[in-house]
Amino acid sequence: MKNIMFIAPPAAGKGTQAEIIEEKYHIPHISTGDILRDIAEEHSELGEYVSEVLSSGELVKDDITDQLIENRLKKEDCKNGFIIDGFPRNIEQAIRYDQIIKRLGYDIGVVILINIDKKTLEKRVVGRRICENCDAVFNINSEDSAPQIDSVCDICGGRLYQRNDDNLEAFENRYSLYIEKVTPIIEHYKNLNVLYEVDGNKPKESVTKQIEDIIRR
Ligand code: AP5
Repeated sequence: MKNIMFIAPPAAGKGTQAEIIEEKYHIPHISTGDILRDIAEEHSELGEYVSEVLSSGELVKDDITDQLIENRLKKEDCKNGFIIDGFPRNIEQAIRYDQIIKRLGYDIGVVILINIDKKTLEKRVVGRRICENCDAVFNINSEDSAPQIDSVCDICGGRLYQRNDDNLEAFENRYSLYIEKVTPIIEHYKNLNVLYEVDGNKPKESVTKQIEDIIRR
């Protein structure tokens, strides 16, 4: 199986698509955002720092994210392919990612850029709801992802909550950072001939189909 990297703005559907691909192709979904949210729960100096950065929508320091991605990629379950979601966030991370991949003997695989309108992202950010028990992700603003009851998980009955960076103020910050940093990353992977694009404005199944067309090539 090819290794997959998603590049996309906040709430574009990286996590949603990565979960679908993980289940279908049995390769791990590695999300730096998820790893950092776990660290933010820890009662430590690092936990407090990460928690503060996450709620502001800024980026966590590169040395922390570089280390955590390398440690995760060293695990046995990555040997047959993996999906990277949320890394790299700037060109420096991209260059170090390529070095890590080389050191571990992996290929970059395919880099999938999810293109999407800002208005759609705003709607997805404010509508996202997550189950505190099983982590399932819903969206009260989307026909195909809405829970039957706004605050209850359809799968396990757990309570649904909103991430504390899922508000329009933090979103603006996350979105402008993305726009500011992404162009050199796109150029970098275009030059390596590994970049593919999909339309993220479409319903979930349609985005999955576009991704599968790329990974089956
Ligand atoms: P991270 O968790 O990576 O946040 P993000 O990039 O802002 O992405 P999201 O998780 O918000 O969205 P997503 O694209 O996964 O969308 P989802 O599938 O959930 O990072 C969080 C923070 O961690 C960063 O701000 C930063 O501080 C830090 N961080 C992370 N990586 C870092 C790094 N490398 N360096 C430094 N700092 C780092 O979908 C969104 C919603 O839309 C859901 O409700 C879903 O149900 C719905 N939806 C999805 N697809 C569709 C569709 N096709 N149609 C309708 N609804 C849909």
